[in-house]
Amino acid sequence: MPNHSEASRRPRIAIAGATGRVGSSLVHRLVGDPVDIVALTRDPKAVRLPSNAEIIGINFDAPPTLAEALQGADRLFLAHGSSDRQVANETALIDAAMDAGIGHIVKLSAMGPPTKAHPFDWHMAIEAHLATKDLGYTVLRPGPYADILGKVGSAVAAGDWGGTAGDGLVNFIDTSDIADVARLALLDEASVDVQRAYHLTGPAPVTMSDVAELLSQLLEREIIYKHRTPTEQRVALIASGFSETAADMRLGLEKLFNESVLAETTDTVELLTKQKPRSLSDWLASNLSLFRD
Ligand SMILES: NC(=O)c1ccc[n+]([C@@H]2O[C@H](COP(=O)([O-])OP(=O)(O)OC[C@H]3O[C@@H](n4cnc5c(N)ncnc54)[C@H](OP(=O)(O)O)[C@@H]3O)[C@@H](O)[C@H]2O)c1
Repeated sequence: MPNHSEASRRPRIAIAGATGRVGSSLVHRLVGDPVDIVALTRDPKAVRLPSNAEIIGINFDAPPTLAEALQGADRLFLAHGSSDRQVANETALIDAAMDAGIGHIVKLSAMGPPTKAHPFDWHMAIEAHLATKDLGYTVLRPGPYADILGKVGSAVAAGDWGGTAGDGLVNFIDTSDIADVARLALLDEASVDVQRAYHLTGPAPVTMSDVAELLSQLLEREIIYKHRTPTEQRVALIASGFSETAADMRLGLEKLFNESVLAETTDTVELLTKQKPRSLSDWLASNLSLFRD
């Protein structure tokens, strides 16, 4: 590997976003592999990760902490929670990774059209920055996470679930499948210098009425998806605890749902992992408590 002073030492994998949904799932997968894991976090004291993962604190306002955290690392997994700091923070990590001599970055992006809507525009900017760099990378572009349905769990429980998705088709992906693909990309010794992008989806698209039907079967009571105008939905989202920014991002996403823009199905997860992508009904069944009172 390019960064090794000792040919036999274990690859060192730095994980930004290790406390997040995909990142934490990835760490738990990698602990069984012959690699050293470095979890990067803004708040090391708050982190609960497997004991053999080293935890290093980073401060995006102090770039030297990024460079120090990446010293000696061979690979970087790059994930970041949705935030208006995302472009600045991820590009700073990419630059620090270049300085540290990292050989390959696996960047968590998003599948979606060119648009000014967040977070798609943020990912376009970060990907454009990555494209100016002379190193190997794998860009993961997943469709919407099944987890986002969990965020409306209490609305489902209260009989007040709805939105602007209409009869649009959406292909939700289980974040475990993204973590499986990320792990393979990080361990792929044969493709260190390659620059590639993977479009990751679940097995099939569904409408919100399909989701309501799946939930009705699992909860053994009738669940209805209420069709709302964007104005009605914004009020409902804010009343249920979304911030103004999060509500606007959600409305942008639901517009794409409504237009079936995120309905695409790829076989990339199965080609890479040799397993069929996890189904939405299995995800709902495993997370049913989110939808109960
Ligand atoms: N939700 C979806 O449906 C969907 C679909 C496709 C793609 N994506 C993309 O997936 C990414 C999110 O992945 P994820 O869900 O695994 O991440 P996440 O759980 O939302 O967050 C990952 C980590 O980012 C770190 N972080 C650093 N700076 C942050 C900041 N200013 N604000 C928030 N978090 C910050 C946090 O770690 P520390 O606190 O430890 O520093 C956090 O645990 C986003 O880029 C999103 O666009 C999402």
